[in-house]
Amino acid sequence: MTDIAIGIIGGSGLYQMDDLENRQEHQLDTPFGPPSDVLVSGTLQGVPVVFLARHGRHHHLLPSELPFRANIHAFKQLGVQYLISASAVGSLTEAIKPLDMVVPDQFIDRTQHRIASFFGEGIVAHIGFADPVCPQLAALIADSASHLSFEGVDVHHGGTYICMEGPAFSTRAESHLYRSWGASVIGMTNLTEAKLAREAEIAYATLALVTDYDCWHPDHDSVTVEMVVNNLHLNAHNAQQVIRETVRRLHNAPFVSEAHSALKFAVLTPWN
Ligand code: ADE
Repeated sequence: MTDIAIGIIGGSGLYQMDDLENRQEHQLDTPFGPPSDVLVSGTLQGVPVVFLARHGRHHHLLPSELPFRANIHAFKQLGVQYLISASAVGSLTEAIKPLDMVVPDQFIDRTQHRIASFFGEGIVAHIGFADPVCPQLAALIADSASHLSFEGVDVHHGGTYICMEGPAFSTRAESHLYRSWGASVIGMTNLTEAKLAREAEIAYATLALVTDYDCWHPDHDSVTVEMVVNNLHLNAHNAQQVIRETVRRLHNAPFVSEAHSALKFAVLTPWN
């Protein structure tokens, strides 16, 4: 099979790309077990891409249960060099409202039960992660979203994503703490993925779809699954348009990302 350079990983509410043509399912295995579900390759407006539903197409995996390493390994096996992530998030600031889109450029790690590295067991490496998303890919996503200009939807380029463990949502004290840290949005998956993608030398960036104000806002109800699902239904269509536009632009003007050589100076253990 020829390599597919562009991967898409969809979160809650985005279990497939509706316009994907020439669909082919790939049941892959990896040294870390099977990925969350089959990877589905096909073409979006003629451009080859491969899609994975992060929680499975029937949403059967908790954030802590996700086979993060297998998912990134599977994309790598297919030749993916750019990974576009879509994820539901809660907002931690007044300026970012439900249904807005955010393209974060920073993360804070509040996960507890995850393996977030391919290294160890005899091979030591430390990747640079000061800038955890690929700036060019993030700019493409944000510019695509702004260009499409959805009514009532603001696009925020940049912001800090708190990655919590879940599955319970935050306490109010935690939500206020994260706000005091200056964080913008909160979710349960993207930091782990971004780290592994960097180790795999894949350029990664996220389109975060805002579904709620978490539980800090005095004038809004605390987040519930119903709130998340309802708002995701409202913006899943917009999200797919942004991804399509990003894919089109990326295909027309591919670039070399620093992420593509992330391991160049990262490995300490001599291997030859
Ligand atoms: N995903 C969507 N909303 C969220 C929230 N408030 N906290 C964590 N993950 C979320």
